[in-house]
Amino acid sequence: MKKTVAVVGATGIAGQQFLVALDRHPWFEVTALAASARSAGKTYGEAIRDAATGSRRWWCNEEPPEAMLPLPVQHAAELDLTGIDLVFSAVESDVAREIEPKYAATTPVVSTASAFRYHDDVPILVPGVNLDHAGLLDLQRRRHGWKGFIPPLPNCTTIGLVIALKPLYDAFGIRRCFMTSMQGVSGAGRSPGVIALDIVDNIVPYIHGEEEKVATETGKVLGRLVDGGIVPAPFPVSATCTRAAVIEGHTESVVISTERPCRVDAAKHAMREFGRALGTLGLPSAPRNLIIVHDDPFRPQPRLDRDADGGMATSVGRVRADAAIENGLAFVLVSHNTKMGAAKGAVLVAEHLASAGYV
Ligand SMILES: NC(=O)c1ccc[n+]([C@@H]2O[C@H](COP(=O)([O-])OP(=O)(O)OC[C@H]3O[C@@H](n4cnc5c(N)ncnc54)[C@H](OP(=O)(O)O)[C@@H]3O)[C@@H](O)[C@H]2O)c1
Repeated sequence: MKKTVAVVGATGIAGQQFLVALDRHPWFEVTALAASARSAGKTYGEAIRDAATGSRRWWCNEEPPEAMLPLPVQHAAELDLTGIDLVFSAVESDVAREIEPKYAATTPVVSTASAFRYHDDVPILVPGVNLDHAGLLDLQRRRHGWKGFIPPLPNCTTIGLVIALKPLYDAFGIRRCFMTSMQGVSGAGRSPGVIALDIVDNIVPYIHGEEEKVATETGKVLGRLVDGGIVPAPFPVSATCTRAAVIEGHTESVVISTERPCRVDAAKHAMREFGRALGTLGLPSAPRNLIIVHDDPFRPQPRLDRDADGGMATSVGRVRADAAIENGLAFVLVSHNTKMGAAKGAVLVAEHLASAGYV
């Protein structure tokens, strides 16, 4: 029998991607939807239509799943979790801080929000990278007296970075990391969003709070699970996060200094081999390749590569030695911010938690 799931924030950019990722899912069935008071009391089909103009407010390339259009949208604060096995939460952090603990009292909550990412007993889970950190969920449950738990995904900029860094960190060690992002506008969500007057023909050089998130989360995700928490990976991350005139897909220019010398072909080999173990777990949303390494110097590009392996692969290219720092290695990556970086990545985490007996 399929596990029943609720999607909270179902009308938003990440929420819509959840509905696409869960459409005809072999293990999960969406039986409840929730959003703000604006949408509550409507069917999903009504909630994603502008009442005044009749226009549809839908941002995925795929059509909205037919079966979900008649489902009623509940108010997230009053969501009825009777008979629900799992909640996917895609609301802004201030809302998540209020509602996710209430849900977690009875039900597991896989979240895309940052509200609890930095708590000691909260693992930030990334498929293929640190699913062993899920062991922390038992502590979280005991501490709070919850039946459920909250494992968030990292920020959508962190996720591609940690996937690309993990095989290099394991094979060569990392002393320091510099990353400059050119992030797609969908990453800002619908509210507050990014207005066309600011972004068309432009690059905006600052995203509030993003650089701190990337630095902290990278250390935590690549850290070591110990009794009672995670010891972060010790290398510093210097991040510059910018918004580019791209709809979807975060592009990141990365330079690292490794502990041990790392030849370019050895780095490419480590990245190409990485993630094969994830592919053997039988998880329905797992990509064939967690990392795709391009030799063509004009790749990766967001338009060409964001949808690789259903938006679940991190595409890497321009791998080269960087003589400006000791043991320097540079590369460019593209990662899909609303698929692997949010909804479908969260579904993959939930598949792992289900197969490991947590859900
Ligand atoms: N966009 C991305 O690429 C991305 C990637 C990774 C993580 N995330 C995270 O995912 C979360 C959602 O982001 P988004 O981009 O999908 O935002 P969004 O497009 O602005 O959608 C926000 C959703 O939250 C609902 N909502 C707003 N206020 C609410 C309230 N007071 N109570 C209950 N629900 C409320 C909205 O419902 P109404 O339609 O009814 O207003 C909508 O469903 C954020 O935490 C974000 O950081 C986003």
